[in-house]
Amino acid sequence: MKNKLIFLKRQVLLAWILNLMILRFWNRSLRIISDSIFHFYKIKLAALKSKIPTISADSLITASEPVMLYQAQEGDGGISIKELWTMLMITVTNKPVSIFEFGTFEGRTTINLSINCPKETTIYTIDLPREKISETRYKLLDIEKHYADKPASGTKICEVKTGGKIVQLYGDSAVFDFKPYENTIDLVFIDGSHSYKYVINDSLKAYIMLRTNGIIIWHDHATGLWNEVDSAIDHLFMNDERFTGIRHIQDTSFAILRKQ
Ligand SMILES: C[S@@+](CC[C@H](N)C(=O)[O-])C[C@H]1O[C@@H](n2cnc3c(N)ncnc32)[C@H](O)[C@@H]1O
Repeated sequence: MKNKLIFLKRQVLLAWILNLMILRFWNRSLRIISDSIFHFYKIKLAALKSKIPTISADSLITASEPVMLYQAQEGDGGISIKELWTMLMITVTNKPVSIFEFGTFEGRTTINLSINCPKETTIYTIDLPREKISETRYKLLDIEKHYADKPASGTKICEVKTGGKIVQLYGDSAVFDFKPYENTIDLVFIDGSHSYKYVINDSLKAYIMLRTNGIIIWHDHATGLWNEVDSAIDHLFMNDERFTGIRHIQDTSFAILRKQ
């Protein structure tokens, strides 16, 4: 009788634990599914709200050469694999001899650009040093501060692979002296601070640095996550005739402009 009772108690305990595990798994799965659906519609809504027309990546790519990827695993703060591939195909198509990146972070995009562009190309990449986070001219967004709060910029950049093509610059893009780069850059990638004022600042500085026919690519456009990036790009598109050619690249979070 005693043994039967112990057996029964064990069965009840086991059933209870199993129940808890199933509930937990079910809750987590439900949350993952609802988050994905929510995120999907958030992106769609952001794209609908955006005033920028969309173009396909194919229309920007004529190169048939393969691209090389290095340390391409996706991570927080970087661009997606699909965006990396799109950016590299645009690079291979346009063969820029000078590139300027706002926001080095770990240098994943920087190093991939460097191994896919001509030998003579120079890639300048600027990043905000950790000690300047509290001294920026414009306020950084709270949700982006941790990307700047790191011991070093460009930790993925490897001198041997890049053959000295990459020049790392340090400073706040709102006060940095861009004069030496005016009219010299073929491709600018804007992925520094995502605040409205910084996106406007970086876009205006980028335009001045570009040669005629040069390209600007913005990251994190129409994602539903970075509203200030969207407002800044929309503002330029609607109010500054130099920016009326901006287009959103389908299935990416890139916006692109070719300087006429
Ligand atoms: C999203 S991460 C850049 C990711 C990188 N472009 C990539 O593709 O891997 C943003 C970077 O912008 C830098 N940043 C933020 N505000 C800046 C500013 N005012 N001037 C220069 N860099 C800034 C941050 O330090 C951070 O490293």
